[in-house]
Amino acid sequence: MTEPLVTLQNLEKRYGHSMAIHDVSLQLYPGEAVALVGMSGGGKSTIMRLIAGLEKPTGGRLTYQDPAPVMRVMYQDDRLLPWLTVQDNVGFGQHGQWVTDLLAAVGLSEAAEQYPAQLSGGQRQRLALARALLAKPQLLLLDEPLGALDALTRRKMQDLIMRICAERHLSSLLITHDVQEAARMADWIIVVKDGTNVYQTAGAKGQEAATVAKVGEDVLRVILDEQVRA
Ligand SMILES: Nc1ncnc2c1ncn2[C@@H]1O[C@H](COP(=O)(O)OP(=O)(O)O)[C@@H](O)[C@H]1O
Ligand SMILES: [Mg+2]
Repeated sequence: MTEPLVTLQNLEKRYGHSMAIHDVSLQLYPGEAVALVGMSGGGKSTIMRLIAGLEKPTGGRLTYQDPAPVMRVMYQDDRLLPWLTVQDNVGFGQHGQWVTDLLAAVGLSEAAEQYPAQLSGGQRQRLALARALLAKPQLLLLDEPLGALDALTRRKMQDLIMRICAERHLSSLLITHDVQEAARMADWIIVVKDGTNVYQTAGAKGQEAATVAKVGEDVLRVILDEQVRA
């Protein structure tokens, strides 16, 4: 039996009297891609911040594989350092083979000496991905990182993330508003509603477009409280 990287049992987070999440139970397994979907304000980012250790739960249990997995977070806002070149944004001044390889992996070798302001939105997100990979994480936490990209760039970025995760046996937890993106990229899709996980279904990662579309539509119905077709 493979041990989960992270286990949430009845996890709860209150801010004062307001309950951000409650009774959240889920497990993230090595190499698996999980998507969190649902209406905004439902608690997705709170779940991710708790997993990342950026906040402390107010109840329930949050446990990690021993030794604890290395985790890195990626946001829509790329958080690049504008005064550093592309390669320095990745390596923070280290110029080893590992930095060169990472830039090649995300298709930014040519741009190594440029500055973030000279890059397109898609290139900036690829750079943010390279930087997240530097620490050799086992778990990538992706909080709507592709939200600001145009459809074509977004699609390429989805493929890049999937390829890199497969090659490096990386687990991912992806928050997205886009149910089709969730269906296309995830092994498992979890619907989060009113602060808790209300539904889980298999994603359609690597499957044909019609299957992806069907899974995405069914998940959308769950989010909107409509009947799911048999
Ligand atoms: N730092 C905070 N202080 C108070 N309330 C918060 C804080 N962060 C999130 N919340 C509340 O927790 C709930 C869940 O938010 P969030 O996890 O950001 O949802 P999502 O990512 O699904 O949009 C919301 O009602 C939000 O207002
Ligand atoms: Mg959020």
